[in-house]
Amino acid sequence: METHQFKVPASSANLGPGFDSIGIALEKFLYIEARESDAWQVEFKDAFLEVLPDDATNLVVQTAIATARKYGREMPALKIYMGSEIPLTHGMGSSASAIVAGIELADRFCDLNLSDFEKVFRGSEIEEHPDNVGPSVTGGLFVGYYKDDELFYNTLDLEGLEVIMSVPEYEIDTKEARGVLPETYPKQDAVDQNAINNALLMAMMAKDFKSMGRLMMKDRLHEPYRRQLIGEYDRIREIALDGGAYATVISGAGPSLLTVCDARDAEGILGALQAVPGCIHERIKLYRQR
Ligand code: HSE
Repeated sequence: METHQFKVPASSANLGPGFDSIGIALEKFLYIEARESDAWQVEFKDAFLEVLPDDATNLVVQTAIATARKYGREMPALKIYMGSEIPLTHGMGSSASAIVAGIELADRFCDLNLSDFEKVFRGSEIEEHPDNVGPSVTGGLFVGYYKDDELFYNTLDLEGLEVIMSVPEYEIDTKEARGVLPETYPKQDAVDQNAINNALLMAMMAKDFKSMGRLMMKDRLHEPYRRQLIGEYDRIREIALDGGAYATVISGAGPSLLTVCDARDAEGILGALQAVPGCIHERIKLYRQR
């Protein structure tokens, strides 16, 4: 009986101004083991996952079934063992990891032989933006654009960069976090955002982390509107920057905050951040390009 075992990395989307476009893969994983069975069944290895459906309505299962059908195939029913290090609804791409896991199951059990590009494309169709599914497929720093059935992306490794994630206890629903954004933006914001992103990408490619960090904190599209939803935003950013961090930004739709820094400053910043209660502050390694 066919059995497959694999893991899908978490991700942090946006990195400030890269709204719906830029993301990085993190060394935290969704773990899947699956084998053919008489009926669909999901068994959770971590208690916090038990809020999720354990039948064919689970996002991993739904994605697998729909992806197989899209390619003219029918998924066999599976028994899936699912474990995870990725908190749900906290801005670390847990849904995107589930979607990528579903695509991977369809690929493996239906012999689809999908390329990474096809997997990112399929994930973007479902999520409607590639900034979480992209890095969960490719690893590394992912920069992409998906619209009207077209996908463009490239990836890069950001070696030398350290990440600290500050994870508040409360959740923020992505729908709610998208709902606080304006329908339209002033022309000057659009012009600035374009220049900020251009400069940001060049800074990333040049590994000019100081400029990168300053540019990451100049977003005009979502951070100014979402920061109000995160009570710890100002304090965490202030402590991190005082400790020498390059930047602190909202991870995805929040409420987690992503601090990027030099390895030499990471322990000091992590220690100082412990003064902010109600959050777990944790160093996380970047998951490199596959
Ligand atoms: N780019 C997305 C957002 C990531 O910020 O809403 C979360 O889905």
